[in-house]
Amino acid sequence: MISIKNVTKKFSKVTALDNISIEINEKEFFGLLGPNGAGKSTLINLLVGYFHADSGELLISGKKVGKNNYEVRKKIGLVPQSIALYDDISAQENLEIIGSFYNIRKNLLRAIIAENLNRVELYERRKDKVKGFSGGMKRRLNIAAGLLHDPAVLLCDEPTVGVDPQSRNAIFDYLEKLNSEGKTIIYTTHYMEEAERLCSRIAIIDHGKIITSGSLDKLIQLLPYKQTIQINKNHVTETKKELFNKFGAIIDGQEMYELTPFDNIKFSEFFKAMEDNGIAYNYIDIQKPTLEALFLHLTGRRLRD
Ligand SMILES: Nc1ncnc2c1ncn2[C@@H]1O[C@H](COP(=O)(O)OP(=O)(O)OP(=O)(O)O)[C@@H](O)[C@H]1O
Ligand SMILES: [Mg+2]
Repeated sequence: MISIKNVTKKFSKVTALDNISIEINEKEFFGLLGPNGAGKSTLINLLVGYFHADSGELLISGKKVGKNNYEVRKKIGLVPQSIALYDDISAQENLEIIGSFYNIRKNLLRAIIAENLNRVELYERRKDKVKGFSGGMKRRLNIAAGLLHDPAVLLCDEPTVGVDPQSRNAIFDYLEKLNSEGKTIIYTTHYMEEAERLCSRIAIIDHGKIITSGSLDKLIQLLPYKQTIQINKNHVTETKKELFNKFGAIIDGQEMYELTPFDNIKFSEFFKAMEDNGIAYNYIDIQKPTLEALFLHLTGRRLRD
């Protein structure tokens, strides 16, 4: 449904996007995961037609994205990274102003606004000025604003920044519901937990390049190991580093040792060795690999410092 073909975008000397290509299917929940400055917002801004690509093309349902291409633009809703709301007026008035850009009949718009406010659980607060809203409430209103014209595709650019965990979960539930009702969602984040929870496919983007993409399962398989073992650092385990070295490569963290097991080790032997050396099971935790580990493996850096 969305085709991004060999797209490059430069800002004077900075190459924000470097010849990237992605295909996104209808009804997909697609994640763009990458650190600060990776190029995520640039791609979102190209998809809404705010910027022009220097080369390559972006198509939505086979039609080229462009500033004046109204037919394409109305298919897209944007939840921008920086909150785009007026502080000094109410939630309802904000949506009325934003809705008026879309040529929707007044009565219909009023009904749509009420429905959207309800869905983001702000209907009761509709008459309150936005400046009194919490970060999470502003984020929810920001999402409602992107949905007024019932777009087929919703572009969410880090929609949970500055949001408390409860509001964050409410936003996740809401986006999942929208997706299950048929909306295609593109979601940028540098929180790997968000991409893991929400997205059916993920592209990892770094320095303007897609370094890999696929389903979570497929991506995790790119790691040369299937799990890591974490061992609490304490007066017992600190004397046993030599022992751990027999079973894998050790990262000496602040609170724990992280062991990436060698391919040929037997877990039964590992646990027996731990037991024989007085290392209690509750010091040991086996972890499934994460996207964070994959990012580290592919780039040598962490997603967030
Ligand atoms: N309007 C602009 N003018 C000049 N440079 C820009 C502009 N927009 C983005 N850039 C540069 O392009 C690169 C990619 O920026 P972008 O905002 O797309 O990253 P991002 O992945 O969204 O990062 P973040 O997670 O911090 O939001 C950065 O080096 C940034 O400084
Ligand atoms: Mg950004």
